[in-house]
Amino acid sequence: MKRGILIVFEGIDGCGKSTQLRRLAESLRARGRDPLVTREPTEGPWGRRIRAMARSGEAVEPETELAWFFEDRRQHMREVVTPALEAGRIVLSDRSYLSTVAYQGARGLDAEKILADSEAEFERPDLVLLFELHPEAGLARVDARGGTSEPVFENLPFQERVAAIFASLDVPGLVRIDADRAEEAIARDVEAAVDAAIERAGA
Ligand code: TYD
Repeated sequence: MKRGILIVFEGIDGCGKSTQLRRLAESLRARGRDPLVTREPTEGPWGRRIRAMARSGEAVEPETELAWFFEDRRQHMREVVTPALEAGRIVLSDRSYLSTVAYQGARGLDAEKILADSEAEFERPDLVLLFELHPEAGLARVDARGGTSEPVFENLPFQERVAAIFASLDVPGLVRIDADRAEEAIARDVEAAVDAAIERAGA
């Protein structure tokens, strides 16, 4: 069985990646594909602990937070992502380890070390779609959609640091998408990048 491909959606809060992920999944299904849609933090025990912390407004030590994201990802890779890739599927993941590089890097940890440790341990994406948007615009979208707020991460100085680390990333398979445009225009760029990645992988 030919190995599938891993496509990761990344960017600051409110960048529109989740909307684009849903659109892409629909368009792949319309073309007869059966993508696996997933996200980090997960709905598992570590992911639930992370969300409860982010919503409480009470941050834990950055090292503790880092350990939780790694545990969550370990379980997610082992139980969900790797089996799907081995079954030949296209995996669409809303965030993965580059979020840890950017967010926990913005919490003051060593971003380069997080990247090196992650690349050594986890499935490397075939394609990373990085949705770029000004942090003010991202937070305005987060506010507009309402719902539960996550004050630990969703504040401007923090999002500015996260955006700066995302902007500095240089990893294989990274495609930057200007997310400050109409949904349709963004979706066209997403599809073009994904079609190219599928073609490259022969998947
Ligand atoms: P998010 O994708 O926004 O999930 P939800 O839509 O359920 O809120 O992720 C939650 C927050 O966690 C977001 O602010 C980014 C942050 N995060 C990290 O700090 N490190 C990580 O490794 C990941 C995956 C997410």
